[in-house]
Order: sequence, then C-alpha cells, then structure tokens
Amino acid sequence: MKTRITELFGIQYPIIQGGMHYVGFAELAAAVSNAGGLGIITGLTQKTPADLTREIARCRKMTDKPFGVNLTFLPTVTTPDYPGYISAIIDGGVRIVETAGRNPEAHLPRLRNAGVKVIHKCTSVRHSLKAEAIGCDAVSVDGFECGGHPGEDDIPNMILLPRAAEELKIPFVASGGMADGRSLVAALALGADGMNMGTRFMATKEAPIHESVKRAIVAASELDTRLIMRPLRNTERVLKNVAVEHLLEKEASLGRKIRFEDIMEEVSGVYPKVMMDGEMEAGAWSCGMVAGLIHDIPTCKELIDRIMAEAETLIRKRLGSML
Ligand SMILES: Cc1cc2nc3c(=O)[nH]c(=O)nc-3n(C[C@H](O)[C@H](O)[C@H](O)COP(=O)(O)O)c2cc1C
Repeated sequence: MKTRITELFGIQYPIIQGGMHYVGFAELAAAVSNAGGLGIITGLTQKTPADLTREIARCRKMTDKPFGVNLTFLPTVTTPDYPGYISAIIDGGVRIVETAGRNPEAHLPRLRNAGVKVIHKCTSVRHSLKAEAIGCDAVSVDGFECGGHPGEDDIPNMILLPRAAEELKIPFVASGGMADGRSLVAALALGADGMNMGTRFMATKEAPIHESVKRAIVAASELDTRLIMRPLRNTERVLKNVAVEHLLEKEASLGRKIRFEDIMEEVSGVYPKVMMDGEMEAGAWSCGMVAGLIHDIPTCKELIDRIMAEAETLIRKRLGSML
C-alpha cells in the first residue's frame, strides 16, 4: 500500500506504533519495523540521553528498517534533558521523531537541520494546524477514544479525522481506537494516510511487558477504561482497577480543590511496577477503549499482515462490490 505516510517515512505499510512509556523498548520498535510498519522507541523511558543512545544501538542491531523515537513534552516537575535526548537521536542516525504533549517548536530547527522528519501527536484540529504552521512533516490525530492523554475536547475520531482532513495540507495518521483492517480502511476513508496504534501493539508477543498486562487487555471490554485527572486538566484514559477506582473517589470528594499531590500514590512511579513486574493494581496505566477489539496476542508480523490482508479484502471485495 502506498500513501503519503509510507512515502514520507520510507515504510511498507502505513501503520505506526505510537510511543508508550515502559512499552516502547527496542524489541517492540524493531518488531514493528521488521513487519513493515514504523516502530517507535519511547525516549523518556530511557533515564538519560546515554541510555537512549544504547537503546537506539540495540534497536539497530535488531532491524535495518527505519524506526523512530518518541519525545513527549509533558508538564513535569523537573524538565528532562531534551537537548541531550535530541543529540542521542541525531547522533544515533534516527531520522524520524514522534513528538507529543507540548509545542515542540523550540526543538524543531535542530531536528530539521539534521534531516529528521517530525510527526507531532495532537488531539485537536487547532493543534494540528499549529503543528503544520511550525513546520512538522505530519501529524498523528489522536481521538477521544485513545489510550493515554486524549486532551480536553472529547471529540471522537469519527468527527475529528474528517475535520482534520478539511483543514490540513500535511499528511496525518488516525490515532486512537485503531486495531485492525477495518480501522485502517475507515481511517483512509475519513481522510488519513495511515494509522497509529498504541494499546493494540501492547498485546503482541514482542511487546517486552509482563504477560499479565497483555492478558488484562485481551480480557477487557470497551467499557473498561476510565478517564482520570480531568479536574487537573491532564486527562488520561486508563484501564480501570482498584487504584483507579480509589483515585476517582478522591476526585469526586475533593472536587475542584484537588491537587496533583492528592493522587500521587495512584499515578507516580506506576509504569515499571505494572509493565515490568505485572503488579496490575499498582496504579493507573494508559489503555484505550480499543481493548474491546483486542482478542489475541499475535506477533507484530502476524498482526500487520492480518491488518493489510483484511484491508485489501475490504477495499476490493466488500466496498468494491457495493458499487
Ligand atoms: C501504556 C501506554 C503508554 C503511553 N505512553 C505514551 C507516551 O509516553 N508518550 C506519548 O506520546 N504517547 C503515549 N501513549 C499514547 C500512544 O502513543 C498512542 O497515541 C495511543 O495509545 C493511541 O490510542 P490507542 O491506544 O487507542 O491505540 C501511551 C499509550 C499507552 C496505551
């Protein structure tokens, strides 16, 4: 399949694996890239730029295909050494960066001068247009369904994607709620040039996370996610568990008075415990509504081959035969 996204990134299929904290290690990124998609290493999961340098080198040993690095600009207490991470990316020969969170403008000149293509993840049309205006090469349009941070507008992809298509000139991929060939064909029909998946790639053989996390995703239905931190305007979609229910009770009882410190216990330092040790009740971790469409744990190649075969059948047979 050829779209503006496959051309831009030099990949076989228009399928991207979004950056995921404590999930996007070299093993997953390489497996996705080897299967013809675009794998992404999560930059900030690596504690220092030197660690990222090593992770990039590890990934390069596992694949000779293009892969990218995610840089998330979130409001954190101590600002990470972004210039250092960018040096690791450029010196490591990585030519694709997925940015997310805050405006990446300050870092774009360095990335672009080094020939790095930038895809920025946005949850609204206005942020997508801003990304286009500041010189990003593409956008990942993340709908309300998505796992992680859906923003505060609550616009699902059925509306957000065609709205983005109405306004954007640069290519974009659909993100949030994508799982299979149906998702890909729908995304293309709504104006996207491909799709980005997070939760779906967690439930794959190569995702280097605890088996309990994969099994929890397969067991979950579309009804099992919750939105947390809305009162702090830092909304995150997570899988429900005891810690999340506890956190939501605090949000309900403290109301507008709530501060980040009140919920630290349920959100801070959770990822290594869940993803590495399989402590499923350790706290809140991101998961999309798309869990309802995830019923198995294939290899990345099996998943991507299946998506592409299903998409082709849908386009040629189901849709073609309706005309
Ligand atoms: C466990 C998990 C961790 C994530 N961590 C990050 C992150 O660190 N940075 C980022 O930009 N997006 C992160 N995301 C968002 C994904 O990259 C992607 O945009 C999102 O999962 C798409 O929605 P989906 O899960 O419905 O496919 C995370 C998502 C999940 C499920």
